[in-house]
Amino acid sequence: MAKVIEVEHLYKSYPMAVGDPYPVLKDVNFSIEEGEFVAIMGPSGSGKSTLMNTLGCLDTPTSGVYKIGGEVVSGMNEDQLANVRSEKIGFVFQGFNLLMKRSLLDNVAIPLIYAGYGLEAQYKRASEMLDHVGLKDFIERFPSQISGGMQQRVAIARALINNPKLILADEPTGNLDTKTSIEIMNLFQKLNNDGKTIVLVTHEPDIADFAKRLIYIVDGVVHYDGPVSEFKGKR
Ligand SMILES: Nc1ncnc2c1ncn2[C@@H]1O[C@H](COP(=O)(O)OP(=O)(O)OP(=O)(O)O)[C@@H](O)[C@H]1O
Ligand SMILES: [Mg+2]
Repeated sequence: MAKVIEVEHLYKSYPMAVGDPYPVLKDVNFSIEEGEFVAIMGPSGSGKSTLMNTLGCLDTPTSGVYKIGGEVVSGMNEDQLANVRSEKIGFVFQGFNLLMKRSLLDNVAIPLIYAGYGLEAQYKRASEMLDHVGLKDFIERFPSQISGGMQQRVAIARALINNPKLILADEPTGNLDTKTSIEIMNLFQKLNNDGKTIVLVTHEPDIADFAKRLIYIVDGVVHYDGPVSEFKGKR
């Protein structure tokens, strides 16, 4: 199986106003193969979002090597990273991050503008994606006119629009009730069954159980990496 993600001796420190930089990720190593479904867990402040932002090319590591599909992305400049994000990664956030004054169709089509599609092709593809996440009848609405779970579906449709192999999600169910969270996880499971590689941060053991593999991080260090079902530690 092809490796989608390879992380080797990854370190991330944040500069401090005074004194030494503050180390957040410390010698993190793992690889993720195409088609895997991975949950990342760990206490608050352990570095999960820092890791996800690095995997999503939204931030760069202090040292170490990060490869996507065998290509080294650590060390790329901003423009190169923007291209990798646009072509290879779909990112889903806890707070949905939708544009509130634009229709669902516009929200989903936005990444296509950057990818250079014409207007008609943008709307055709965006409405197909909204259909794919079960929102065919809502494309003209605004985010404020639909529920939180539906807003997260829109964000997932937007993440899927450039057909990335890799979907990254940082606490995608953190703002949703239990029933809606399960609906969203069923959607991620369906995407995984369709061949997408999924890496998802969560605080909830019930949500992590949708994944097959768990990476548990404490204080910037990987403490467990293996099947979700065999994890015996505190979640
Ligand atoms: N931009 C930044 N500058 C300085 N320190 C930061 C920055 N971002 C995060 N940190 C610090 O890095 C550590 C890890 O933060 P991170 O957000 O990655 O944790 P997390 O595991 O996602 O936590 P949570 O479960 O609360 O979301 C924390 O101590 C945080 O305060
Ligand atoms: Mg976080």
